[in-house]
Amino acid sequence: MAYSEKVMEHFTNPRNMGEIDNPSGVGTVGNAQCGDIMRVYFDIDNAGIIRDVKFKTFGCAAAVATSSMATELVKGKTVQEALTVTNKAVCEALDGLPPIKVHCSLLAEEAIHAALWDYAEKNNIVIEGLKKPKSDIHEDEDEEDY
Ligand code: FES
Repeated sequence: MAYSEKVMEHFTNPRNMGEIDNPSGVGTVGNAQCGDIMRVYFDIDNAGIIRDVKFKTFGCAAAVATSSMATELVKGKTVQEALTVTNKAVCEALDGLPPIKVHCSLLAEEAIHAALWDYAEKNNIVIEGLKKPKSDIHEDEDEEDY
C-alpha cells in the first residue's frame, strides 16, 4: 500500500486543522468500520458563503489528508456548492487513495454534510440535495441505522 505524494503532503502539513468558536454549524461523525471520529466546524456568512472551516479528527493518515483537502475545497464556496465536494472529488484531488483506505475519506464528506445539516437546521433553511446525516454522533441512538 502506498500513499500518493499529495496524501503524504496533506498528512504532514494538514490545512484547516483546529476548531472554530461559536461555529455556524458543526458536525461530528464516526466511521463504522474503524471507530474513528471526525468533527467539522463552519463559519458561514449571511450570504451562505463558507468563510472558514476547521476540522478535528481521531483518524488515520488518510482521514487527515482527505479532511485537509476537503476543507480546502469547500472554503469560499456557498453551502449549496459545498455539496459538490464529494469524497470522489477529494480522492481525485489527492491523486487517489489505496482501496482499503477509501472508507476513511467518507469521514470528511460525512462530517461536512453533518455540519451543513446543523447550519441548515439552526437557520431554518433547506440545502437542496443535502440528506440528514446518518452517523452524526450527536443524534439520538434510536435514529441510527447501521
Ligand atoms: Fe479510521 Fe482511516 S482507519 S479513518
